[in-house]
Amino acid sequence: MENSEGFQKYEHVRKTEEVMSAESLAYYLEMNKRRSIRNFSLDKFDIEIIKTAIKTANTAPSGANKQPWFYAIVQSSEIKKQIREAAEKEEFENYHGRMSDEWLDDLKKFGTNHIKEFLEIAPYLVVVFKQVYGFENGQKQNNYYVNESVGISVGMFLSAIHKSGLVALTHTPSPMNFLAKVLDRPENERAYLLIPVGYPSVDVQVPMIKRKSIDDVSRVY
Ligand SMILES: Cc1cc2nc3c(=O)[nH]c(=O)nc-3n(C[C@H](O)[C@H](O)[C@H](O)COP(=O)(O)O)c2cc1C
Repeated sequence: MENSEGFQKYEHVRKTEEVMSAESLAYYLEMNKRRSIRNFSLDKFDIEIIKTAIKTANTAPSGANKQPWFYAIVQSSEIKKQIREAAEKEEFENYHGRMSDEWLDDLKKFGTNHIKEFLEIAPYLVVVFKQVYGFENGQKQNNYYVNESVGISVGMFLSAIHKSGLVALTHTPSPMNFLAKVLDRPENERAYLLIPVGYPSVDVQVPMIKRKSIDDVSRVY
């Protein structure tokens, strides 16, 4: 029914408050286990799992329902190699002059550098593009709230990936315009995020981080 005209009944089943409390807590506890992973296993899995997570991402709300996103799934070793080479070139510049001292200092605890082995090891790289404008019947169309819409969609993608039992990294080897070139994307698309998806390597470690408390990030008025 997406994008159709007219209205239809919205089917809503009320849950008891007890059920809502239990389900929202269970979802939080599940999502609280999500971490960004930077070391992947070579183990492969069915691409359908990624496609289903993209289906979830594609249900996201978006400005005027323009759905201004495109998800490229890279499984070709040759293309992954090209992406790694181009990303490492940009990241070398970032770590050797383009990032401020404060930024480099903030990154120290993550132990990251310009080497991005995971771009070849993870079985799939999902490259998300935002569509700064759209095309319909060969006509340029406005898109609205593009960054907000794509951010929400990617958030839903990341939670779907986590829920399916896989791990991911939200990666930004900026500037990322090499991705549109490598993947031959049209001129209305800009790379938004590069997300390797897979299983974690055995005994993978993650940086110890603290999350802000609910009182730091919200207030009841
Ligand atoms: C927009 C965005 C860009 C990010 N870029 C990178 C990146 O380029 N490289 C990287 O290693 N991590 C990157 N991260 C991951 C963050 O470092 C990570 O989400 C944060 O430290 C919190 O850790 P967690 O995801 O394990 O909870 C990025 C995250 C976001 C949301």
